[in-house]
Amino acid sequence: MKHLMTPLDFTTTQLEQLFDLANDIEANPDKFSHACEGKILATCFYEPSTRTRLSFESAMLQLGGQVLGFSDAGSSSAAKGESVSDTIRMISCYSHICAMRHPKEGSAMVAAMASSIPVINAGDGGHQHPTQTLTDLLTIRSLKGRLNNFTIGLCGDLKFGRTVHSLIHALVRYENIRFVFISPEELKVPDYIIEMLREKQIPFEEVIRLEEVISSLDLLYMTRVQRERFFNEQDYVRLKDFYILNKEKMALAKEDMLVLHPLPRVNEISVEVDEDPRAAYFRQVKYGVYVRMALILTLLDLVH
Ligand code: CP
Repeated sequence: MKHLMTPLDFTTTQLEQLFDLANDIEANPDKFSHACEGKILATCFYEPSTRTRLSFESAMLQLGGQVLGFSDAGSSSAAKGESVSDTIRMISCYSHICAMRHPKEGSAMVAAMASSIPVINAGDGGHQHPTQTLTDLLTIRSLKGRLNNFTIGLCGDLKFGRTVHSLIHALVRYENIRFVFISPEELKVPDYIIEMLREKQIPFEEVIRLEEVISSLDLLYMTRVQRERFFNEQDYVRLKDFYILNKEKMALAKEDMLVLHPLPRVNEISVEVDEDPRAAYFRQVKYGVYVRMALILTLLDLVH
């Protein structure tokens, strides 16, 4: 049985197959509209979500399947002290596949070990968010035609941002990728990622000012400073508006640079940028549904 815990659970060849399938679904939705008839997806979300939960549910419904689940730990028996392991044993009796989000790092792995159905990590604390990474990679591949030969800037909360950690791990497997990490001192990329990049001899630089480097980027991945990951409200307030991407900064960027963002955004991208053809973050949301449809079919072994 297959689970998805990190983007590295798929080889690059398997990812190509997944993305080809996602592009096929995008082009021929009717071909797949009954593919999951009789199958049930459980969405177990112990932490808030709009995109990930609803895109999973939309994906399963568009495949002809059904969905059940909870969107708040407080409305589940977790509020009575039930463990993740026991919960997934119940969910395994009610459904065929489960997407789980949990504030604690490693929770999806704990669930996978006790599960008799495929478990998809839909975000575990500040650790990993593999289906966001699949979304990001499919967006880049679909809009740029490749996943190699890029200078990518990652900007904002690089310390707690699980989407950033997952994306870096996924991109190091492609040729000629150069990273530019743009963050305040307090929100720098964790040391274990820096060590991994040094070991693999992947070029990177760390800067504080976006304006200094934006003209060198092929892709700019903006992220939100996450209030929920701070222990101290004062630190959050001091850092929350550190970066605001606006028209003036976009004027310094390449004409074909893409702006990505996992969303939700708060203030880090001014709404005036939304009309810029380089703003790809709402298109990214659509790719998130196609790639989750492809993932459900793959993990349920329904690809023929
Ligand atoms: N990108 C993302 O994970 O969004 P949600 O928190 O709304 O699911």
